[in-house]
Amino acid sequence: MGWQLAAASADDTWRRIADALDTAARSSHHPFHLLTVASVAADGTPHARTVVLRRFDADRREVWFHTDARSPKVAQLTHDARVALHWYSATDRLQLRIAARATLHHRDEVARAAWMAAEPMSRACYTSPVAPGTVLAWFPVAPPAPPPDDHGGLASFVAVCCRFTDIEALSLHATGHERVVLRLDGPAATREIRAP
Ligand SMILES: Cc1cc2nc3c(=O)[nH]c(=O)nc-3n(C[C@H](O)[C@H](O)[C@H](O)COP(=O)(O)O)c2cc1C
Repeated sequence: MGWQLAAASADDTWRRIADALDTAARSSHHPFHLLTVASVAADGTPHARTVVLRRFDADRREVWFHTDARSPKVAQLTHDARVALHWYSATDRLQLRIAARATLHHRDEVARAAWMAAEPMSRACYTSPVAPGTVLAWFPVAPPAPPPDDHGGLASFVAVCCRFTDIEALSLHATGHERVVLRLDGPAATREIRAP
């Protein structure tokens, strides 16, 4: 079923987007399972990268992903919490964009709970002795999935919570593209129609 934004209320569009992102966090086959996260370095240079959507909380307006405490993006987010989040589904011909603020959970109860819920394969990359981005002489072999009771990687594990109040959707149609900004900081979702 296509995304007919003109025919839907702000609330219907928000509920449908929230359902899609919630499903995407649980299914690696979903077109929104991967997103692009852009952050800004201390010198103002923008950096974008793909991450896995780990959790979407519609009530709290939160997007969650996991990363390595040693990675450059963590230094960037520590310096400047602003992030741009981006998805595009070629299947749905739908782009989603969110401007958010990131909170880093490292060595706290939130990080521990996310770590405990993570699959051993997902934990493996956090066991690497070298920090992401380190210059190497050759490509390293993949670290093996740690046993379920090996929590050594937790020291490098960060759960990132991105909080937002607005979300922009752009739906492509041969008959006319539809772009809306949903405002979610009031009791009910409202929308602004924008030129595509
Ligand atoms: C399909 C795919 C999924 C990825 N998922 C993650 C992820 O969930 N978390 C993460 O930190 N990096 C993930 N990466 C790697 C990042 O895109 C990036 O290369 C790495 O985190 C280093 O980013 P940084 O140097 O900007 O910190 C993924 C890459 C790809 C291609």
